[in-house]
Amino acid sequence: MEAVTRNFFLCLSKNNWLNQVARKRGSGIVTGKIIAGIDFPNSVQIIKELNRKGLSTTVDHLGEFVHSKETAIDRTKEAIETIETIAREKLDSHISVKMTSLGLDIDRDLVIRNMTSILDTAEKHGVMVTIDMEDEPRCEQTLELFKQLRESYSCVSTVLQAYLYRTEQDLKKLSVLKPFLRLVKGAYKEPATVAYPDKKDVDDNYKKLIRQSLEYGLYTAVATHDDEMIGYTKELAEKLKIPNDQFEFQMLYGMRSKTQMELVEQGYKMRVYVPYGRDWYGYFMRRLAERPANISFAFKGLVKK
Ligand code: FDA
Repeated sequence: MEAVTRNFFLCLSKNNWLNQVARKRGSGIVTGKIIAGIDFPNSVQIIKELNRKGLSTTVDHLGEFVHSKETAIDRTKEAIETIETIAREKLDSHISVKMTSLGLDIDRDLVIRNMTSILDTAEKHGVMVTIDMEDEPRCEQTLELFKQLRESYSCVSTVLQAYLYRTEQDLKKLSVLKPFLRLVKGAYKEPATVAYPDKKDVDDNYKKLIRQSLEYGLYTAVATHDDEMIGYTKELAEKLKIPNDQFEFQMLYGMRSKTQMELVEQGYKMRVYVPYGRDWYGYFMRRLAERPANISFAFKGLVKK
């Protein structure tokens, strides 16, 4: 049943028509709950408040349904403005970007040009830019882009997904570049030909990747809400004598806020992924797929008139 619900919401997350409906309806039901605001200026106060509590952030301008060059260029300008605002407001924040929103499905050279403009600004202001990982058909291209950009920029990082069979090999290949890496379980609907269908196998692989990443000496962001994975990381770090400044925990804005604060109080670095923007629909559906209970409050608001 769990798998059926998950697949149902993941299928809905890809529906551009429903995205347009949700966009028109506005983001009132999710703002301040799982997204910070409709634009970055409107989100700054929330980020300042998180920073004040000792939580670092990474901000994400939501929007995966980008099919024109003009929109991809607009997204690039917005990312640059966001980095400039982070620097001006002295926020403790990275930014996260999706290659599809910068034109991956349109033209590879366009993405390189867009990312180069973003990374020039990021390097100037010392802001890290993390390339989120999307669905499997885009994984190879995304990693190739990352490797190319990493040759010129130290402020670029990316994400590896534990549900993919290929990830252990990807981690090994990337480790020579000594990147900042975010490890996640994986949020998309993938076939058994490329991804572990069973949660237990995903969890086992996730633990294996955390261990390997730390042993390779990489700065590792363990992005999960799962107590078992958090406990595993803490124990492992102690056992392998990995200092607290070689890894961090990451969670999504609005999820497990109490646990986030407990980790800060225990002396761990904790980064909150803060989405903002009008295209909240796909993100919202993926969160429903993971754990409907998390955001049932907002779901009630969505179906009620
Ligand atoms: P999972 O959903 O496997 O749940 C495991 C257990 O954790 C649950 O059974 C429950 O006990 C507990 N739990 C989970 N959520 C809880 C909650 N809110 N409250 C209480 N208990 C809870 N994916 C991707 O494909 N590409 C990407 O770039 C990213 N980026 C990203 C950044 C950050 C900061 C995070 C946290 C996540 C991502 N993801 C992602 C999403 C990721 O792949 C994954 O889908 C979700 O994090 C859900 O998996 P978890 O590991 O959190 O726990």
